This record gives sequence, structure tokens and C-alpha cells, in this order.
Amino acid sequence: MWPSNSLTERLNLDWPILQAPMGGLVTPSLAAAVSNAGALGGLGMWGFSREDGARRVAAFRQQSGRSLNLNYPLWDDPGDQRTASGPMREMLQTLFNEKGLGEVPQPAGGAGAVTADHLAMIEEIKPEVVSFHFGLPDDAILAAVKATGAFIISSANTVREAKELEARGVDAVIAQGAEAGGHRATFTGVDIGQQAGLFSLLPQVVDAVSVPVIAAGGVSDGRTAAAAFMLGASAVQIGTAFLRCEETDISDVHQNALDTATDEATIVTDVITGRPARFIKNRLIETLQASGLPALPIPAQLSLTRPLLASGDGSVAALFSGQSAALTKRRPAVDLIEALARETGERLKAFV
Ligand SMILES: Cc1cc2nc3c(=O)[nH]c(=O)nc-3n(C[C@H](O)[C@H](O)[C@H](O)COP(=O)(O)O)c2cc1C
Repeated sequence: MWPSNSLTERLNLDWPILQAPMGGLVTPSLAAAVSNAGALGGLGMWGFSREDGARRVAAFRQQSGRSLNLNYPLWDDPGDQRTASGPMREMLQTLFNEKGLGEVPQPAGGAGAVTADHLAMIEEIKPEVVSFHFGLPDDAILAAVKATGAFIISSANTVREAKELEARGVDAVIAQGAEAGGHRATFTGVDIGQQAGLFSLLPQVVDAVSVPVIAAGGVSDGRTAAAAFMLGASAVQIGTAFLRCEETDISDVHQNALDTATDEATIVTDVITGRPARFIKNRLIETLQASGLPALPIPAQLSLTRPLLASGDGSVAALFSGQSAALTKRRPAVDLIEALARETGERLKAFV
């Protein structure tokens, strides 16, 4: 199982390690460094036009000839939120004034989807892997993506979701435990308070599906990766540890906050983006929660809170993080992968 299995053979990987595609925070240089080191680099596509998406892929291909994962988060168009956003904008205005950021913008942003333009791009560039977050697209789009030869993956927060993904034809399921940074992947409205940790979820998903299972949530070093393989994972998908890599595009204030984050630093909340996601708890989250105002749907809520990042103040910026940030450190991606590969092998050997 470690380090070679059907998944690594199919995707031409040296190591069963996937770098989580984290939207625009992942640069083509990070994904290329990861793939060149024998793991799987991934690029988020949401928010990028076909041309910009293709430019990201071209930049990756210039730096790496190895496998690539393109990622599409999926959500409905929130519609016109201008009227509904009044109280939220008014409340946020106090923070914008404090930071000299001008007026809170009007809510913006449409559906998270594989548009016709992006489908054409996928057909042209034929990425080795196409991954989705928040379920799968409709059957016609899914079939068209599959027809390109792409290996299809998506995340599940429960056994029920894993089975549904398998029934719809994914090639592997990502079991995302509660420890994970970023958005909960649920597409069946799982109550976040009921989301299982990876230690519980992973073996139950492994028992329930026959496709390979990729473990996500809290995997950050050789110990945690080895534990995932012992629980039946065929690969691990890692987000927060890759956020620390020198090739990412995260702000200094975010990187500094991750330097000092402890096991009790994070919280899952929908107040920043409109969907439950894990962040380092700070004044922005406390203020939004104390207001009692419901978050606007994603990405409208995100469009209101995102400008606060420009303040350079970690108390009011959105700081995505998983629960294991304290186990991660700043370093080049190649060093992270080398360390994971070496330490995971050593840990697993110790049990033979
Ligand atoms: C900053 C951040 C952004 C993320 N964005 C995405 C995304 O766009 N698409 C996706 O499939 N997963 C995304 N994820 C979730 C990861 O795929 C994965 O479930 C998670 O990072 C695993 O937990 P860890 O952060 O403890 O490694 C994101 C995670 C983080 C930390």
C-alpha cells in the first residue's frame, strides 16, 4: 500500500500525497513543485475565466510535465443579494472604517460551476485529475469531463456522501474529517456539529466503498500520514501544511497567524464565506457571530469580508486553517514532500 498502489500507478505518482487545491492561494509554481517532487499538484479554478485558468495551467506545464489536478467548487448562483445584504454591510462598515478601507462593497459573485468555457478548456488540456468540492456537477457535465480521460474525485463528510459519490462514478473518494482546514465538503447539508473526525470517518468510508479512499483533515507529518494509511487510506490530501510552503500566495498576516496557531485556535463557521469552513478564530469572527446576522450565501458573504485582508491586520482578516497548523512549518514544498515521504515510510516500517 505504501508508497505504491493502484492510485499512484494510474496517476503516475511517486508518493500517494495530494496537495489540496486551495483556490487562488495555490500558485502554479507550488503545484509544479509538488508534482515534480512526485506528489500530485492541484490548481483551483473558481474565480478564473477560461483564459486565466488556461494561463495557470500553462504556467504549471512550463514548470512540470507531471500530473495535474484541476479543482472546481460547486454552488448555486446566490442571485441578487443587494437588498438582503443591507444589515450585514452596515455592520461590517464599522470594521472597514476602522481600517480605512472605504465602503463595504455590494455583494458579488455567481455560481461555482464547470462552465461551458471551462469544459472546453478541460477538453483541450486534458488534466490527469479533475476534482470537485461540494458534490459533483450534473450527469451531462460529469460525463463530458470523464470522457476526457480525467480521473474524477470529490470529498465526502459522511459514509452516505461517500456512497453517493461512488454511485455517481467517481474514481476515488476523499474522506474529509472535521480537522480539515477550508470548507466542509458536505453536499447533503450535514450539520457541522455532527461531522466526524478523520480517525472515525476514514475506516468507515473505507469499509463502505470499493473505490480508493483519500484521507483529508489534520494530515501534516509522517505520523498522521502513517495513521491514515493504517486506517485504510490509499492516499492523503493535505491543505494546511501546503499553505505554509514558500510557493503559496498567502498574505504575511495569514502566514504569521499560522506560525503561532495552537490546537485550540480554530473554529468552523459560515460567517466569513457563507458556507461552513475552518478558520483561526479572531475578532472578525467574534464580531460577525455576536451580530446574530445570518451570513449571505456563498460567495456573496465572502465578497463582503474579503477586502478586510488588505488591512494587514490578522484580527480582522479571514485566516483559513486546519486543526493541525502547529504541526506545520514554513518551508519549500519539495522539503515538505521529502519529509512526509521519509517519515511516513519510517513510521509504517516500525509497525511491521
Ligand atoms: C485554505 C484552504 C482552502 C481550501 N480550498 C479548497 C478548494 O478550493 N477545493 C477543495 O476541494 N478543497 C479545498 N480545501 C480543503 C482541502 O481539500 C482539504 O480537505 C483540507 O485542507 C484537509 O485538511 P488540512 O487542512 O488539515 O490538511 C481547502 C483547504 C484550505 C486549508
